[in-house]
Amino acid sequence: MSSIQHLFNNNQQWAEKIKQNDPDFFKRLSQQQSPEYLWIGCSDSRVPANELLGMQPGEIFVHRNIANQVVHTDLNCLSVIQFAVDVLKIKHIIVCGHYGCGGISAALDGERHGLIDNWLQHIKNVYRFHKEQLDAIKDKTERTNLMCELNVIEQVANVCNSTILLNAWKKKQEITVHGFVYKLHDGILKNLDVSTSSPK
Ligand code: CO
Repeated sequence: MSSIQHLFNNNQQWAEKIKQNDPDFFKRLSQQQSPEYLWIGCSDSRVPANELLGMQPGEIFVHRNIANQVVHTDLNCLSVIQFAVDVLKIKHIIVCGHYGCGGISAALDGERHGLIDNWLQHIKNVYRFHKEQLDAIKDKTERTNLMCELNVIEQVANVCNSTILLNAWKKKQEITVHGFVYKLHDGILKNLDVSTSSPK
């Protein structure tokens, strides 16, 4: 059996390093969290929310699932958004996709993948909305990458159209919803410039 002891060793070193720089860090953090950002990203191990934004524990509230989707019947994601908006009073919601997303590719490849096809069905719907534009692109990688962007834009709209955001905006709570795409090959975020801070 392979050992996972190294995970505990890594963890101890990590905690020590933080305490060296800031002895009260964990004490402070254990008392409360007050993040300003909610991140909704892909589960892909190469897209770590905190690290790529250079943020410490306590600075960003995170929800991740395959292909960064916001589905109106997904109680898990909706509960995260509601807690972030109503309780934590976060100021920004970031939906972040990434180029080369396996979930997006799987949704487009016409193959069967088992249970996950049900989850990916939402992305197939996004494809249907933009079929003409996407089918006009001959290069497969380019087509998938555009689909990654269109999916983010769609999910930003889903956040904005959720009852949680509509209620918060009605109460004049200041929240902006953003759409980003992360480039795996250079680690750089691209802003899709779809930021929205009102129901319009
Ligand atoms: Co992905």
